[in-house]
Amino acid sequence: MNLQKSLDIDGKIFAPALFLAPMAGVTHSAFRRLVSDFGGYGALTTEMLSATAFFGENPAVSPFSRRRDCEGPVVYQLRTSGEDILEAAILKLEAQNPAAIDLNLGCPAPEIQKQASGAALFRDFERLRHVLSRVRAVYRGTLFVKCRLGDPSENWRAPFVERLRLFEDYGVNAVTVHPRFSNEKLKRRARWREFPWIAAQTRLPVIGNGDIRSLRDVLEHSELFEPLAGLMLGRIAAQKPWIFREFSGLQPLHISHAEIWDRLCRYTLEDFPPEKAIGRLKEFTAYFAQNFFFGHELFRESRRARNIEELRASALNFLESGPQLSALSV
Ligand SMILES: Cc1cc2nc3c(=O)[nH]c(=O)nc-3n(C[C@H](O)[C@H](O)[C@H](O)COP(=O)(O)O)c2cc1C
Repeated sequence: MNLQKSLDIDGKIFAPALFLAPMAGVTHSAFRRLVSDFGGYGALTTEMLSATAFFGENPAVSPFSRRRDCEGPVVYQLRTSGEDILEAAILKLEAQNPAAIDLNLGCPAPEIQKQASGAALFRDFERLRHVLSRVRAVYRGTLFVKCRLGDPSENWRAPFVERLRLFEDYGVNAVTVHPRFSNEKLKRRARWREFPWIAAQTRLPVIGNGDIRSLRDVLEHSELFEPLAGLMLGRIAAQKPWIFREFSGLQPLHISHAEIWDRLCRYTLEDFPPEKAIGRLKEFTAYFAQNFFFGHELFRESRRARNIEELRASALNFLESGPQLSALSV
């Protein structure tokens, strides 16, 4: 797979065809700003925005929907049950000039499914059709969907293909597939072996996601990734916000983990009040700690911090001590 290649979707060029995954609690405006400092991606994605919550917020200042010029193309992910003020939220989103609006059809979290969105919306074919028709009635712009494989069953392929047809019928422009079933936790390996089959079922560009952590992963399984139109990276981008440079073949940069952590701390405090910033930074630190052999120490100390000052002191104390990198981070 040529990772430098660009992708033309609906007349928009995503160059390269590499996407930051939507991650609630992680891909807020401050984190996207940090990733944009390194570049190498084709588009960033917001965390999922509930249609109702987004409608009530001010995108000029909200850390969820705020967008800076430096970010370049940003895909806004929407979560809806179809019972909320979907049309009004979409019109408001369109005013943000999104690279695309992405519909969350994969989130397996019970509280999200209870609200009939995420994986529950993917499951309910008629509701899904209704939501897509309502979206398309008010929005002609670029539309993505992100889904899993559906519910676990020996016959999962038929309902999956049925939904691909629906996406095509309603003018969805690209589909991101995270090949796990709706009940699977992230510990279980994503089923990359399904990518060629999925791509063969649809004329839509398929963006592959799930457990892709290094260029080696892609090169060693090139026959599985080759049919894909693009790749989406999630947790590895929280561990290494510069990862897109590696994938897109940009010149490696000298990485100072302490400086990068501190920069995100600064960015996060610019966008969130301190009592909210601390949770976001702790979440990031859990991923960032995986860069180090003794990263559990950084993780443990960060969990204990009671305020931003304590968190910053403990993180920098660890990061400035020249900690040994973990085997996968060297
Ligand atoms: C903390 C966290 C939050 C997530 N939030 C979302 C979300 O808001 N919307 C979504 O579609 N997927 C969400 N996901 C799933 C990711 O987008 C992605 O599909 C998953 O992490 C697998 O990709 P990865 O192995 O590259 O991380 C989330 C995942 C994590 C770990």
